[in-house]
Amino acid sequence: MRYVSNSEEETFEIARTLGAFLKSGDSVLLYGDLGAGKSVFARGCARALGVKSEMASPSFTLMQPYKTKNLTVYHFDLYRLSGEDELYYSGLEEHIGSDGVSLIEWPQQADVCPPRRVEVDIEKADDPIKRLIDVALVDMDDRKQQIERALKPFEAE
Ligand SMILES: Nc1ncnc2c1ncn2[C@@H]1O[C@H](COP(=O)(O)OP(=O)(O)OP(=O)(O)O)[C@@H](O)[C@H]1O
Ligand SMILES: [Mg+2]
Repeated sequence: MRYVSNSEEETFEIARTLGAFLKSGDSVLLYGDLGAGKSVFARGCARALGVKSEMASPSFTLMQPYKTKNLTVYHFDLYRLSGEDELYYSGLEEHIGSDGVSLIEWPQQADVCPPRRVEVDIEKADDPIKRLIDVALVDMDDRKQQIERALKPFEAE
């Protein structure tokens, strides 16, 4: 499905709406150019999952975990990932698709494909504050209808 955002706040809101349906073992793969809004989207999902603290960019640490009451949110930023060693130390293979919810910026850097995942592709538009957000739910048939209903207000024409 394709959604439209007309501000950073709206992207956050779309992400928070989706995030409310995520469960331990799910992954969100965040695609899009530099400055597209992947971190904004990750923060919206994390907020819905109960992360209350500020979220710093994990671009140098590659991954930042956030413990909530019920689960751990793993925020990955693989932009600077170089080589198998770093991939191993980022904890990606350990956590993805197993415990907690993984939110992954630049997933193409590691060529990851976790089973239950949401693929989010954020595209800039002609207007500098507008974004087109494609959301694909993979192996999430149990929640697909509910998620699409909740995101309806943001749907593109
Ligand atoms: N509709 C919108 N949705 C999201 N961000 C927007 C929007 N309009 C403008 N912005 C701005 O775009 C920027 C998005 O930054 P963000 O850090 O989320 O990008 P990113 O995709 O994570 O980039 P990077 O690849 O560098 O990690 C912010 O400065 C935000 O204010
Ligand atoms: Mg980012």
